[in-house]
Amino acid sequence: MTAQRIDGKAIALKLRTELAAEVAALKTSTGIVPHLAAVLVGDDPASAVYVRTKHQACEKAGMVSTTHRLPATVSQSELLALIQQLNEDPTVHGILVQLPLPCGLDTTTILDAVHPLKDVDCFHPENVGRLVQNRPRFLPCTPQGIQWLLRESGINPAGKHVVVLGRSEIVGKPIGIMLLQKGLGADATVTICHSRTQNLAEITRSADILIAAIGRPEFVTAEMVKPGAVVIDVGVNRVEERLVGDVAFEPVSEVASAITPVPGGVGPMTIAMVLKNTLTAAKLSQTTTKQ
Ligand SMILES: NC(=O)c1ccc[n+]([C@@H]2O[C@H](COP(=O)([O-])OP(=O)(O)OC[C@H]3O[C@@H](n4cnc5c(N)ncnc54)[C@H](OP(=O)(O)O)[C@@H]3O)[C@@H](O)[C@H]2O)c1
Repeated sequence: MTAQRIDGKAIALKLRTELAAEVAALKTSTGIVPHLAAVLVGDDPASAVYVRTKHQACEKAGMVSTTHRLPATVSQSELLALIQQLNEDPTVHGILVQLPLPCGLDTTTILDAVHPLKDVDCFHPENVGRLVQNRPRFLPCTPQGIQWLLRESGINPAGKHVVVLGRSEIVGKPIGIMLLQKGLGADATVTICHSRTQNLAEITRSADILIAAIGRPEFVTAEMVKPGAVVIDVGVNRVEERLVGDVAFEPVSEVASAITPVPGGVGPMTIAMVLKNTLTAAKLSQTTTKQ
């Protein structure tokens, strides 16, 4: 079997084109132009690339994008003051604090300071609570991208056994919750695995849909995959100047029925969902009081 290659780049491009049309329509009908403010602290090169990519994607979709750069030596109170300023600025609809933050800054306190109505990453406890209760305001970007990829590829998780490798707050836990919910694009039976999981390969081999988000290059081998399974590779690992996923792409392609490549799979969807959430935040700003 040679798996269908799920083309995240093409699916993301299609979504971004649709979003650009929605942005233009919003501007015409209300005068509002969605505005994403990114906060970049320190000089981590990978973070700078991510923020630049999101900035360019926003501009292409007709949105406003501003980047607030702060030195790694910034104090917690200075960073909190910037976030407060962005919270109070009615022209800013979405706030994104690029992670990881340099040592000395308390990530939880910083992320909690972002106003829930501008929390386009869906990290605020209020938004996470809403997500768990299946009444989301925003869906977290990477999990939302995965769900969108499945839908656009005609893969329905309903009644399937989904195994998620990784329990991070950003990917593993929320995608598990989202696919577990009652409703379209969900209704799966979900198992979430982590570094303390016993008999991991036995569990992954029982997956109809396997989602790998652990940050270990090519960790998932063909022997860990059930023939015909769908494999979603979230991992982005740099190995000798090459980007590889958490899945051994070539051998697993011989076993799976569909698979996402790295790069060009989940990554472009994450960017598209930042735009989608910023548009949602801009629409919300019309109907809700922020303070
Ligand atoms: N494409 C995108 O848009 C995108 C977005 C976000 C992340 N990523 C990538 O996705 C990967 C995961 O990111 P993350 O932020 O979710 O990672 P993370 O916060 O480092 O969490 C990794 C998770 O994997 C688990 N794990 C580690 N080694 C394992 C093993 N040998 N067996 C089973 N579980 C294991 C950990 O278990 P414990 O909890 O027990 O430690 C943890 O839950 C990274 O490569 C990251 O770069 C990509």
